[in-house]
Amino acid sequence: MAEVIAVGSDHAGPELKSAILEFLTARGLGTLDLGVPLGTRVSSYPEIAAKAVRAVLSGEARFGILVCGTGIGMSMAAGKAEGIRAANCLNEFMARMARAHNDANILALGARVLGSSLALAVVESFLDTPFEGGRHRERLDLFN
Ligand code: RB5
Repeated sequence: MAEVIAVGSDHAGPELKSAILEFLTARGLGTLDLGVPLGTRVSSYPEIAAKAVRAVLSGEARFGILVCGTGIGMSMAAGKAEGIRAANCLNEFMARMARAHNDANILALGARVLGSSLALAVVESFLDTPFEGGRHRERLDLFN
């Protein structure tokens, strides 16, 4: 069965969320759309972040991808949950490191920071990079 990726955004990012959902579907991945819908004028990013946290911790989704204006609020809100390692990534290098060294399970993106083609490249790097384990596992065990 295809891996499922949960994707959510606040009102700053439904367009980028749609582009990410399309990109994931084209890659043969399953998707879970956590909202908010296009046209939403106001929303609260912690509510969407909580949905992604639940989807990842329950195993319903392998990863979460969360979009807000900067990626900051989403990464802060999701990262408070035990067992969640949320990374706000601005480029492909950060996305690779977030997976390889930090075993991130939620990727946060800023729709007002990244253009959509860079954002999709960041998503691709995140999904394509495995966790290296070893000494990085030991470091994660110190806080996680
Ligand atoms: C919403 O205007 C904005 O504050 C939010 O999308 C996000 O950037 C918060 O971190």
